[in-house]
Amino acid sequence: MRIPLIAGNWKMYKTSSEAIVLAEAVVKALSMPDETQVVVCPPFTALAAVGQIVAGSKIGLGAQDLHWAKEGAYTGEVSAEMLWDIGCRYVIVGHSERRQYFGETNESVNRKSLAALASNLTPIICVGEILFEREAGHAYAVVEAQLKGALSGLTSEQVQGLIFAYEPVWAIGTGKTATPSQAEEMHAHIRKTIALLFGAEIAQGVRILYGGSVKPDNAKELLGRSEIDGALVGGASLQIDSFAAIAKAAKR
Ligand code: 13P
Repeated sequence: MRIPLIAGNWKMYKTSSEAIVLAEAVVKALSMPDETQVVVCPPFTALAAVGQIVAGSKIGLGAQDLHWAKEGAYTGEVSAEMLWDIGCRYVIVGHSERRQYFGETNESVNRKSLAALASNLTPIICVGEILFEREAGHAYAVVEAQLKGALSGLTSEQVQGLIFAYEPVWAIGTGKTATPSQAEEMHAHIRKTIALLFGAEIAQGVRILYGGSVKPDNAKELLGRSEIDGALVGGASLQIDSFAAIAKAAKR
């Protein structure tokens, strides 16, 4: 059985001191998540401070991006090893905002995923179509291409236990969610694609999170679907009440 995972993507919100307050609240409210895993992904500037707060708790720490090189003259960038060193065990890769505003491509997602894995970080690989692509009937093909690009050259061992997030771009920050059926159908398609590439057993083991306007009032219905293994939460992860309510809704 796949353990549900609820990850909070704090995006470019929270100064370090604000992040500390929220992280302390998350540890307090969600340290008993029995069979649910909880991960917080603060901005780079707050990672070390939040890492100290979640250390020794059940709450996991994730970054929002990384560079693929081990080290080097890459001003402004952060490596997988640097993230690991301050307690990160997860890293979001290929978020649609990075694809949209910062030139992330399927190829860079691939290089970043490989770099994360080489440092024992679990990448949370994001895929998802824009509205135009969905309306044109291309959503499945777009997501499939994103997956194939991201996973190019990975071995079955590397794909085993990976985390994916399906985030339809039209549902991010818009208050518009994919219906549970739309999400579930795409999740099933993602799993099928992974099965074709790496075998059914590997595909059954990966977790596929849904992201895009997940809120306390729609979480239960989305997370109740057997193909939806958790959520990648943006806006609602910035307040403890809404984030805790979503995490609690993940209980199977
Ligand atoms: P919202 O939950 O704010 O729509 O953001 C989703 C997201 O992008 C998580 O990575």
